[in-house]
Amino acid sequence: MVNPTAAPVGYGIDFGTSNSAISVAYPDRVEVLPLGPSRSAMTLPSFVYLHRGGRRAAGDEAVRTFLKSGHEKTDCWNCALAPYGWDTDCRQYRKGGGCNDARLLSGVKHDLAKVGFAGTNSWATDFTVGSLVAVVLRRLKNEADAAVDEGARRVVLGHPVVFAGADPSDRAASDAEAFSRLEQAAVEAGFEEVAFLPEPTAAVIGEPTHHGVEIAVDFGGGTFDVAVMDSRDGESRIAGLSGVAVGGEVLDGVLFETSVGPALGLEVLPNWLFNELRTASSVRLLMADPGIPAILARIGGKEAELAHALLYQGYAYDFYKAIEAAKIALSSSEVTELRFSPLGLHVTLRRTAFESMIRPELDLVREAIGRALDEARIQATEVERVLLTGGSAYIPAFRDDLARTFGEDRLEQRDAFTAVVHGLGVRAQQLWGL
Ligand SMILES: Nc1ncnc2c1ncn2[C@@H]1O[C@H](COP(=O)(O)OP(=O)(O)OP(=O)(O)O)[C@@H](O)[C@H]1O
Ligand SMILES: [Mg+2]
Repeated sequence: MVNPTAAPVGYGIDFGTSNSAISVAYPDRVEVLPLGPSRSAMTLPSFVYLHRGGRRAAGDEAVRTFLKSGHEKTDCWNCALAPYGWDTDCRQYRKGGGCNDARLLSGVKHDLAKVGFAGTNSWATDFTVGSLVAVVLRRLKNEADAAVDEGARRVVLGHPVVFAGADPSDRAASDAEAFSRLEQAAVEAGFEEVAFLPEPTAAVIGEPTHHGVEIAVDFGGGTFDVAVMDSRDGESRIAGLSGVAVGGEVLDGVLFETSVGPALGLEVLPNWLFNELRTASSVRLLMADPGIPAILARIGGKEAELAHALLYQGYAYDFYKAIEAAKIALSSSEVTELRFSPLGLHVTLRRTAFESMIRPELDLVREAIGRALDEARIQATEVERVLLTGGSAYIPAFRDDLARTFGEDRLEQRDAFTAVVHGLGVRAQQLWGL
């Protein structure tokens, strides 16, 4: 008889591009932990907040703090004008104004596999990629520790099959960098033992029973991942795995490129600049580049002023959230209005147009599924069920593609935001629960 109040044997953590979550593995069960002040959410947005005073926060707390005080600046008009690269108190110092006291980072997961990217520098302080990830992992661990009798020091961390941002010509080096940063983050967050598991494998092993051939597709914010499990000879094994760096954020970027940017007239900007404005994550890098205000001033005109407002007047967070919300609305409505009055944006979006614009990305996803099936030497007709998870799996055109390949009756929706973290907890139980 298992003691129902036994201490947890480990945690499972799904550090997502957009959302993160934690599960608690006991010898006899796995629980996905409700998070936040009222314990009403199952996930935490993967935001990291940094303040020049040393304060760091993750998730909802990061967003709340930033929205309250993110506009505060230290006036740098009187700072010595330093040449680029000079060590100043405030590396984001720019001639046109002050220097923000706080930063809100999103999409840190993208940076995990970038070999040449050491981290971010703010206020003359280096934040390594691992230490940024650790802010999120620590917050999750603290919440779990507070909810159990005795906190766990072991964790199973999920990872995409292919990291977004990985160098395709040297996958091994990118993967090694990403795993070492994830491990460093886990150690910094207080874990002593770390195991890894591909996210789609977690989604399939979280199922209570296995039979025939099952595949799990996890279409998230940063990547699409797929695992094929073959249980036909009585023993379950992962026979194929594949992934591609296509996720909801890329799709938000397509909406920007094809509808929102043109509606604002921003396509007249130089190509490189227009491209960097596509998503919240790429804009983060623009904001950290001290040369941009001078370039915008040189370009001049109403479009450069719009870009300036977007980057430096605190609109970026709400602007990209509005684009994402419109994309999400298109999963349940044929048409939606996207308005963002601070920049004078009003555009009507149609699902049919959006879905034809994202066809190239959906084709990459279909090819990834094909590669996983090929690796497993399995035909689509042999697949008994397809388990869907990840927020982007709600996109009707994606579901239609799956239905065409496997048949509508084979598709089974799982919880979009907790199926992976639940499976990571199941893995922790398998590893440490006996
Ligand atoms: N109803 C919906 N329709 C379309 N997209 C959606 C919907 N709901 C959420 N999304 C998108 O799903 C993404 C977040 O999904 P999820 O939380 O599964 O990703 P993640 O786990 O953070 O990312 P990853 O696993 O790729 O690192 C976001 O891009 C969000 O806009
Ligand atoms: Mg995910």
